[in-house]
Amino acid sequence: MTVIGKGEESGAVLEVEDLSVEFPTEDGIVRAVRGVGYRLDRGDSLGIVGESGSGKSVTALAVMGLLPATARVRGSVRFEGTELLGLSDARLSDLRGSGIAMIFQDPMTSLNPVYSVGYQIAETLRRHNPGLKSRQARERAVDLLGTVGIPSPERRVDSYPHELSGGMRQRVVIAIAMANDPDVIIADEPTTALDVTVQAQILDALETARAETGAALVLITHDLGVVAGHCDRVGVMYAGRMVETGSVEDIFYTPRMPYTLGLLGSLPRLDREEERLTPITGSPPSLLNLPPGCPFAPRCPMRRDVCDNTEPALRKAGHELHLSACHFADELAGTGAAEVFDAIGADSEALARFADTTAPTNAEEDTV
Ligand SMILES: Nc1ncnc2c1ncn2[C@@H]1O[C@H](COP(=O)(O)OP(=O)(O)O)[C@@H](O)[C@H]1O
Ligand SMILES: [Mg+2]
Repeated sequence: MTVIGKGEESGAVLEVEDLSVEFPTEDGIVRAVRGVGYRLDRGDSLGIVGESGSGKSVTALAVMGLLPATARVRGSVRFEGTELLGLSDARLSDLRGSGIAMIFQDPMTSLNPVYSVGYQIAETLRRHNPGLKSRQARERAVDLLGTVGIPSPERRVDSYPHELSGGMRQRVVIAIAMANDPDVIIADEPTTALDVTVQAQILDALETARAETGAALVLITHDLGVVAGHCDRVGVMYAGRMVETGSVEDIFYTPRMPYTLGLLGSLPRLDREEERLTPITGSPPSLLNLPPGCPFAPRCPMRRDVCDNTEPALRKAGHELHLSACHFADELAGTGAAEVFDAIGADSEALARFADTTAPTNAEEDTV
């Protein structure tokens, strides 16, 4: 593709503005994404979290131009200044090659079962560099497989996807993403389908891919714990919207949206997997015929009358880059994690566990 704005080393690489996606269905219109926006600068990492069905994947697919034709997409998605919504399939497909790489939950979505992994990496390399000789492409494929942590890459390069474990396949997908030398990597629950023991390794491989390519990262997950270790900023999604955005510190230490508090409360203990804390009760609303008001109100411990009538806008809470969509965000201000956990009725033991497992090395003692 013609690479637009590559010379500008500063500025946004990806800007999503007021993005909305609706799916007309037999039962009515599903409003899957409602006015989502974010901005990624070069090298940034943004975590997008939220329960299943909150619109995380549909947002990503809209950015990539991969939604079914029936989807109604509005708003703006700009990659290095170029508007992507409405771009032809051919241009979008070029862009998916070299500009934005996507990593899905299931690696088999991206891999072709009938070709060896080496062949698939080499093809990607040659698409961007048609002069590359077969032998060079193969050597580079071996290098890439080694970089993402595949043992004996010179042997594995000839393997077919079915001969590899799920974790190894996801590493191959990351190697292909790297071969594209993307400016943005969007990873949608890249470890959710994998065994817990390999999840951390895959996230490390993703970090390597980021470091080697300089790509900005959008990491989609339902697990706030993953975000803490791998992202600078966080967007919390609920019912198709961003309901809180800020730095990792903002979100973990001074959350301003009760839903975020609920997610924090349901962080699993890292040392004891089976024990999941769940102060958040109920389930997300249907995105078909959403009632007026705050979609989180039926589950919210801070709910008042206004919450049933008026959906709160996403607005400043704390500082310029920390935003919350809660009428009572200010009531959570000035509270440390302890009060915040009190506010949602989480027990002190839960708080202690949270502090244990997530506190950075320069632990903010005063918040616990
Ligand atoms: N093709 C589609 N047609 C109708 N509804 C859809 C379609 N794709 C997704 N949805 C709905 O959009 C909502 C958001 O889905 P999704 O983005 O996949 O959630 P998440 O990734 O956060 O779990 C869900 O209610 C889902 O059922
Ligand atoms: Mg999803």
